[in-house]
Parts: sequence; C-alpha cells; structure tokens
Amino acid sequence: MTHQVPAGIGTRPHSARLYDFFLGGKTNYAADRKVAVESLRQFPHAMVAARQNRAFMHRVVRHLARDHGMRQFLDIGTGIPTAPNLHQVAQAEQPGARVVYSDNDPLVLAHARALMNSTPEGATDYIEADVREPEVILEHARSTLDFSRPVALSVIALFHFLPEEDAPYGIIRHLMDALPSGSALALSHATEEFDPEGMRRIVATYRAGGVNLTLRSHKEVLTFFEGLDLVDPGLAATCDWRLDLDTDDVPQLPGMVSPAESGVWAGLAFKP
Ligand SMILES: C[S@@+](CC[C@H](N)C(=O)[O-])C[C@H]1O[C@@H](n2cnc3c(N)ncnc32)[C@H](O)[C@@H]1O
Repeated sequence: MTHQVPAGIGTRPHSARLYDFFLGGKTNYAADRKVAVESLRQFPHAMVAARQNRAFMHRVVRHLARDHGMRQFLDIGTGIPTAPNLHQVAQAEQPGARVVYSDNDPLVLAHARALMNSTPEGATDYIEADVREPEVILEHARSTLDFSRPVALSVIALFHFLPEEDAPYGIIRHLMDALPSGSALALSHATEEFDPEGMRRIVATYRAGGVNLTLRSHKEVLTFFEGLDLVDPGLAATCDWRLDLDTDDVPQLPGMVSPAESGVWAGLAFKP
C-alpha cells in the first residue's frame, strides 16, 4: 500500500514528524525540524525521551505477546514507521499475531507499506483516522481483529495530544468497552512532574509551532486505567518500566536514564 504524499503536507509541523526527527528518522520536513531543533534547545533530552518511549513500546508488546500470549493488537497513534514496528515485535513472538494500525497523519499512510509486511500467518492493516472518532477505528478493526477474543489496545505517546475538551478519558473507555475481558491497555503519556521547567518550555515551543501538548500528572494518567487491573510496577517512568524485559543487544541498566530525561509515564493494565 503506497499512497501519494498530499500536497502542502510539510508546511506545518506535525507531532508524528517531530517524533520521527527525535528518533533519528528522515520522514520530516523543514517546518518540523525547525520546531524540533528549538525543542532540543529548550529540552535537550527530547531525543532520549523519544527513544525511551519507543523502547517501552518494544518491551510492553514483547511482554504481551510472549508472556501473555496476546495475538491481537490495535495500535492507535502509530507514528511514522520505524523498525522494528509493533507488528514486527509481536510477530517475532507470535507469528500469527494480527495488528491494526491507525494514525491521523496522512504521511503515515504514505509510508504504510512498511506496516504491511506481515508474516504469512499473521495480518496487518492500517486505517487513517482520528482517535477522537473511536467508532470509525473500531468498525474498521473488526475486519481484521476478532473482538470476541482479547485485544491489546496500545496508545503510546498519543493522549497528550488531546486536551480535556476532547474528552480523552471517555475515548479510552469507549475503546476498552468494545474489547472483551482479558484485553489490555498499554499507554504512555508525557508529564511535567519529572522536570516541570523543561517540559513547560517544550510545551511552549510545540504550541508556537501549532502543536498542542497537554501534560498530565500521575493521578490524571491513572484515570485512563480506571476499571482495569494495572500490573506491576504500576504507572512508572518509561525509563524504569520493567527493564528486566529488555532483551536488546545493549540492555538498559536501571538508573542509566533518569525520569527527568524521559518525561513520560507508562503503564500496562488488563480488563477484568
Ligand atoms: C509521539 S508519536 C507516537 C508514535 C508511536 N505510538 C510510538 O510511541 O512510538 C504520536 C502519534 O500520534 C499521532 N496522533 C496525534 N494526534 C492524533 C489523533 N488525534 N488521532 C490519531 N493519531 C494522532 C501522531 O500523528 C503521531 O504519529
């Protein structure tokens, strides 16, 4: 699946491309790089924070597939493809895993081919949609995922792009209500609690570029998990969340990165 990049797409910064820049990707435009470089000036840990967040995604997905036998994933706010993508992590453990991706940046769709290289036993699909229309995403996902069996919903580094007026907690509830018992929620979310000054500066830089960030506290982020069973260690900084699961060539040692550098809460919960 290859789509044309829509005309005029690079004129305004977008969160997906800022994140791509911080991860060292090349799928970003001058307008994105301008805000990204200024963000680094204001919060020099932004690249570390992005990589810590991505490493959380790898650990939590590997854990779900390997240790919980999870074979279905609904990933919203997927981001520009960056290997390994979620399905590659899941299918390394469960070759038959089925993954539906969704994002609202048209540039992700233009690169969706990299999300479609599923194992023959498994399946991947992509829908360009906004998380503020959860029913559109659920409707599409039903053609690939079996909603009578557990599904892991991953919304990693997504909900800080939704202000209160978008009713972010209600959106998670809507999505989790559609999934059966045994389903999981993997979520990460930026916070100002570890480095209030640095994070406020990055919020201001993003806002000046037209990208709104809503940071939330530990207590507020816990609200996303209401009615679900949060697993150990609960809500933790991405850099501290289950480092024992890291099987990468260069393991991350406890304390190597501080919460002030990573700036993001992370958690995993199951639906009872
Ligand atoms: C920081 S990236 C995270 C990417 C990936 N989940 C990860 O953690 O590696 C946030 C993604 O959310 C997407 N996004 C932001 N607002 C969105 C919305 N309202 N609906 C759907 N996707 C959105 C952006 O396009 C971007 O790809």
